[in-house]
Amino acid sequence: MTEHITPFNKPYMTGRELWYIAQAYNHGHLSGDGLFTKHCHAWLEQHTGAHKALLTHSCTAALEMAAILADIQAGDEIIMPSYTFVSTANAFVLRGAVPVFVDIRPDTLNIDETLIEAAITPRTRAIVAVHYAGVACEMAAIMAIAQRHQLLVIEDAAQAVMSRYRGQALGTIGDFGAYSFHETKNIICGEGGALLINRPRFGERAEIVREKGTNRGQFFRGQVDKYTWVDIGSSYLPGEVTAAFLWAQMEEAEPITRQRLAIWAQYHQGFAELEHSGKIRRPVVPQDCEHNAHMYYLLLDSLETRSGLIAHLKAQGIGAVFHYVPLHTSPAGQQFGRAHGELTHTLDLADRLLRLPLWIGVEDRIEEIIALVQHYLERQPA
Ligand SMILES: Cc1ncc(COP(=O)(O)O)c(C=O)c1O
Repeated sequence: MTEHITPFNKPYMTGRELWYIAQAYNHGHLSGDGLFTKHCHAWLEQHTGAHKALLTHSCTAALEMAAILADIQAGDEIIMPSYTFVSTANAFVLRGAVPVFVDIRPDTLNIDETLIEAAITPRTRAIVAVHYAGVACEMAAIMAIAQRHQLLVIEDAAQAVMSRYRGQALGTIGDFGAYSFHETKNIICGEGGALLINRPRFGERAEIVREKGTNRGQFFRGQVDKYTWVDIGSSYLPGEVTAAFLWAQMEEAEPITRQRLAIWAQYHQGFAELEHSGKIRRPVVPQDCEHNAHMYYLLLDSLETRSGLIAHLKAQGIGAVFHYVPLHTSPAGQQFGRAHGELTHTLDLADRLLRLPLWIGVEDRIEEIIALVQHYLERQPA
């Protein structure tokens, strides 16, 4: 029976993770910022073109660092979608700021850039662009709005490692970008993330905030003669065991992305007919976007159809899931944030979205998954 279970996610291992972890063990340097962290920083900077990249414990930690570096103060307002993970908002709420939730576009499920300007008030400090499913927000419009109103832009690129917008790596277009290497992402190390710093003026402070508010980095480079407490900060750097694991994955980032894209394309082609018959809507990837196949989702006609289909797939051993509970409807979202407007698409799409398994190795069951979905939906009354 167990061989027929297809989990929603299965972490992909390259096979070199333990070899690199053994090297970290043999080096005897297990805290952060050793050889493997340096490899990862160099890869991130070269691959993305970011001014500076710093590994963190998680994308959540990277977003918290961005909020500190952006100097977000109590009462500041931050514009973001409600259709996102809690960390997008929490990082700013921790600084006393108010998330202002704006509706999403029905095509990409990203923040609707045409609604941002109307949500700006004298207290607005930043816009958070969440690149849902690794497909870019409309960054040209968002950057133009930010420039007109002197706002910072933080890209929550948790799902967007290896994705591009008009040729530019996601995470490098705004002032800051935050990546996730959580085991559900494309490139993984269990729990991990990175902050991309795209404006040189934030670089020095970023190192200090990440090192508990100390100038430890400058001390080790011989730039200061003692190492002391100079700013607010926390411990945001991962140890070398984590970085060693991540390095094995970064080395294979391109083949991993290629294989995921092939699986994504298999689903996409397989569901064309159902979309044509009006039973589902498939993901939309605008022309300017090169995505990373982080996710394959379907938009169904109702919450009832989604619940029924999840149960049907589960009965066949296939893990399909949904997310997110829109933040503006959650208890903490209502306490700490506010919605701008009705958020109609957010409420509607959050009820109808279904995610299918997308991991290297699921190829063998894709035809079957497509057939099961087809069969189930074709039995539904029109
Ligand atoms: C949009 C978004 N932001 C932030 C996060 C948080 O990432 P991490 O688990 O690395 O903290 C996630 C994780 O799923 C996410 O999807």
